[in-house]
Amino acid sequence: MIRLEQHIDPRGSLSVVESGMTVDFAIERVYYMHGQAASSPPRGLHGHRTLEQLVIAVHGGFSITLDDGFRRATYRLDEPGAGLYIGPMVWRVLKDFAPDSVALVLASRHYEESDYYRDYDTFLRDARSLT
Ligand code: TYD
Repeated sequence: MIRLEQHIDPRGSLSVVESGMTVDFAIERVYYMHGQAASSPPRGLHGHRTLEQLVIAVHGGFSITLDDGFRRATYRLDEPGAGLYIGPMVWRVLKDFAPDSVALVLASRHYEESDYYRDYDTFLRDARSLT
């Protein structure tokens, strides 16, 4: 979890992410997920071969479970002043979205379907063969 630089004054708050400072990677793509209902199915359910990402709950909140093939950890993102870094070879599941949540994702590469693991067993086999 990365604490973001924030500038808070009587006008409100301003949060900053900079390549080479907040995150080591160069940000090449930005996308955001919104419109989830409490009853929506989980999102994510994939891993990436090379992609690096920073995920921020810019509004609302949601849970992310990360799995590197050996360990699992669940994080609750519910404040715009923090981001969760997700490196390569990590399976992620996003769920338990609060109403009107917006999940902002800053990514190190353009969208490439070939970078995805969509099948958990294939991901697990490759992740466990890394050590
Ligand atoms: P998907 O990977 O299923 O989203 P999530 O990570 O929430 O499970 O992506 C949904 C659709 O959007 C899928 O058809 C791929 C497409 N997509 C793009 O075209 N560009 C992108 O940058 C992303 C993240 C997804």
